[in-house]
Amino acid sequence: MALNVIFATPEAFPFAKTGGLGDVAGALPLALKRLGCKVSLFLPYYREVLLSRARTEPAGIEVSVPMAGRDLSGQVLKTSIDGLAVYFIKRDEFFDRSCLYGTPEGDYFDNLERFVFFSRAVLEAVKAKDLKPDIIHCNDWQTGLIPVYLKDACEDDPFFSKTATVFTIHNIAYQGLFPSSIYGITGLSPELYNPEGLEFWGKLSLLKAGIVYSDIITTVSPAYSREIQTPEYGSGLDGLLKNRKEDLFGVLNGVDYGVWDPLIDRLIPSNYSAADLSGKAVCKKELLKNINFELGDERPLIGMISRLVDQKGFDILFEAMPELMKLEAGFVFLGSGESKYQKRLEDLGRRYPEKVSVHIGFDDRLSHMIEAGCDMILMPSRYEPCGLNQIYSLKYGTIPVVRATGGLDDTVIDYNGKNGNGFKFREYSPKALTNCVRQALLAWKDAKAWRKLQQRAMKANFSWESSARKYMDLYALARKKLSRPE
Ligand code: ADP
Ligand code: GLC
Repeated sequence: MALNVIFATPEAFPFAKTGGLGDVAGALPLALKRLGCKVSLFLPYYREVLLSRARTEPAGIEVSVPMAGRDLSGQVLKTSIDGLAVYFIKRDEFFDRSCLYGTPEGDYFDNLERFVFFSRAVLEAVKAKDLKPDIIHCNDWQTGLIPVYLKDACEDDPFFSKTATVFTIHNIAYQGLFPSSIYGITGLSPELYNPEGLEFWGKLSLLKAGIVYSDIITTVSPAYSREIQTPEYGSGLDGLLKNRKEDLFGVLNGVDYGVWDPLIDRLIPSNYSAADLSGKAVCKKELLKNINFELGDERPLIGMISRLVDQKGFDILFEAMPELMKLEAGFVFLGSGESKYQKRLEDLGRRYPEKVSVHIGFDDRLSHMIEAGCDMILMPSRYEPCGLNQIYSLKYGTIPVVRATGGLDDTVIDYNGKNGNGFKFREYSPKALTNCVRQALLAWKDAKAWRKLQQRAMKANFSWESSARKYMDLYALARKKLSRPE
């Protein structure tokens, strides 16, 4: 019988996306399905889903979640994508908003209510639809309470008696922390609020809940799985993860080459492949024209597509800017996120209009055009659980210049004139970043060698199939364990 998997996620492409988790949740369930699993995807019905024009229909059930003395109802909508069942939990009071988790000014004030509601509604819906899951695969803090509800509320429920849980940490720095005073919203027994359970230094931690209560924990690259067991990268959860290291696995994210391949990408002006790179030059010209940026043809173009948050290395980037501006290269930035970074980027654009082109906002088409039209992609991340842009850029022959951390370290191999697929620096400093960009620009000058480097990068294969197989092995392991703590 096919393995029955419920994939619970706060976002999934093409319905709603703020970053790489959206891409993963849009692709991994399909890869699992291709390997024979029966997968149902669950996510909230945000305003963005409505705007994506997904054709949904009522799934024929309503859910009701008790919260702070009220019963909150929700509708369940359904659609399918390439034969994959997708369910949405709809309650407009919580999800019909301009953003997913918060605005550039900060998180939504009622995120605990929103994701408690989502988590409990998923379990209700799974039961009402009689989906009998072998595995519930949860992703990030927004779904961290699902394994707890499964243990606490559903312990005596035979419907879930054979359901094992896998929890994937996409980013340990986002923990879903809430004041203990609102713990009651979870509806969970107060006994679970202790340092071995849901409490993290006097606060309720949803990420910790997922880590403590799941049968298997994964994260999105082998390097990051080691890093998060250290105080430097563990965001205070390193001790817990070390204790559970037998159950912690790093599985590298894959790429959906149906979406990210320059040979078939419909969002770029000219398709191309490793065998014939002429289309890439067209993409560069068209990108420059589109963004109204004048850069001599003979100059390299360096792109960055990023959430504007501390993680992505903007502090060393801004410090490095005066030196970077002395180099013979242009920069194009696409980003959305914290307003302090938006402002600083816009300032840069005003200050160096002949060298820097800045685009604030979330723009899928422009992100594809930048991947295709640039010569290099910059990712100076302070930490990076996996990172997808560097993997996409390899496929587009757009050479990654990255800090050697997490998944960036696992996927980029330093170029030494003969081998390798990109450029890496280790020390988190403006100087190391500038030196690395300098090296890349030097290598770019040798057109023949650069072309070989591009062709080698484009050959790398990060398709989802092998990672999805690893998840299937872990699902089997989780089912063997089914050992949630008392
Ligand atoms: P993270 O998940 O930490 O944001 P990843 O590299 O894993 O980083 O994934 C980022 C994803 O989000 C990529 O698909 C990237 O193209 C996309 N992205 C990030 N910022 C933007 C933006 N401003 N506009 C369009 N796409 C963006
Ligand atoms: C997170 C990480 C990113 C990773 C993505 C998908 O947002 O920051 O590195 O690629 O999740 O797993």
